[in-house]
Amino acid sequence: MPKTLVEHVRERHGDALAELFEALAGAAKRIEARIRTAPLSDALGAFGHTNVQGEQQQKLDVFANDAVIGAVRTLGSVGGVVSEEDDEPVVFLDRPGARFVVITDPLDGSSNLDVDVNVGTIVSVQAIGPGEDARLAALKPGTAQVAALYVNYGPATMLVYTAGRGTHAFTLREGEFLLSGEDLAMPERGPYYSVNEGNAAEFPAAVRTYLEKLRDGSLLGTKYGSRYVGSFIADFHRTLLKGGVFLYPPTAKTPKGKLRLLYEANPLAMLAEQAGGRATDAGEDGRETRRILEIVPKEPHERTTLVIGSAAEVAAFGDVAAAAVGSVPQEK
Ligand code: AHG
Ligand code: MN
Ligand code: MN
Repeated sequence: MPKTLVEHVRERHGDALAELFEALAGAAKRIEARIRTAPLSDALGAFGHTNVQGEQQQKLDVFANDAVIGAVRTLGSVGGVVSEEDDEPVVFLDRPGARFVVITDPLDGSSNLDVDVNVGTIVSVQAIGPGEDARLAALKPGTAQVAALYVNYGPATMLVYTAGRGTHAFTLREGEFLLSGEDLAMPERGPYYSVNEGNAAEFPAAVRTYLEKLRDGSLLGTKYGSRYVGSFIADFHRTLLKGGVFLYPPTAKTPKGKLRLLYEANPLAMLAEQAGGRATDAGEDGRETRRILEIVPKEPHERTTLVIGSAAEVAAFGDVAAAAVGSVPQEK
C-alpha cells in the first residue's frame, strides 16, 4: 500500500505540518465531492458578489473558501488565513501556539467550473514567529515559505506538495491521498508553451519575440506546441510533468500581470524550483526578470507577471528579456 500524504509529511516534516496537511486534505475532499456532482445541484453559477479582485465570485469559490478556513480554524497551530476570496486576512485571535499562516486560492480556474474543466485549490504556508501578527507573516517573500501545495480536481484528484525537500504527488483513492510520484523532476525541456494568445497583441516585444522563436524552433532548436487550459494549476501540472513553460505576461488590462503573488505564483514557484524548474516575472518596464520567490510582497493581493517552467525555457526568456527593452502597454 503506498504511503498516505499524512504519513509522508509526518515522516519528513513532523507532526505539526502533518496535522495541518490532514486538515487541508479534508477540505480538498469536501471540495472534490461538491465539484464532482455540481451540475446536479445548484452549486454552479455566480454567488452574486464581487471579490476584492473585482471578479464575480462563483458559489463554489465561496464553498471552497469556507471549506479551507473551516478546516484550519480548529488548529491551534494556525494563526490566520489570507484568501483570494477575503478582502482582509482572517486572523484567529488568542493563538499563542500559532506557527503557520495559511495563504490560499481556494478555487483556482473557477471560470472553468461550468464547462467541467480542471479546477484546483492552492495553498502556501508561511511561518509565524512568536508574537508575530499573521498579517505580517503573510507578507514574507516566497523563499520563506514553509510549504506549498495544490490540488488538481481532474480525471484523478491529485495533490502535489513540497515542504522544501522535493516535490511529491498523491492521488485520491477511497478517501486517502496515496503517494503516486515522489521527488518529481521537471523535464529539462518541454514540448509546449502555455499562454493566453488572445492577449498576444498587447504583450511586450520581448514576450512576442520569445514566443515567435519557440514556435519556429530558432530559440532552443525544437518547435514548440501550444496548450492553454485557463486554470493555472492544470497548466502548471502539465508543465511539471511534461516540461515546457507557462507565461502570464503584462497586458493592457493587467500591466502587473493577472496572477497573485502570495497564493498563485509563490506556491507554484516553490514547487517548480523543488522539481528543478524555475519561476521569474516577465521583467516588465524593460528591466531584468526577477526570481518570483525573492519578490517582497507589499500587500496580500498583489499581482505579478509570471514565466514558470523548465529551467531551459525560463532562462531563455530571461536572455530575450535582457536583450530587448520590453515595452509594456501603459495602463489605460
Ligand atoms: P482564479 O479562478 O483563482 O481567479 O484564477 C484564474 C486564473 C488562473 O487560474 C489562470 O491561469 C488565469 O486566471 C487565466 O486567465 P485568462 O483567462 O486571462 O487567460
Ligand atoms: Mn487562481
Ligand atoms: Mn480562485
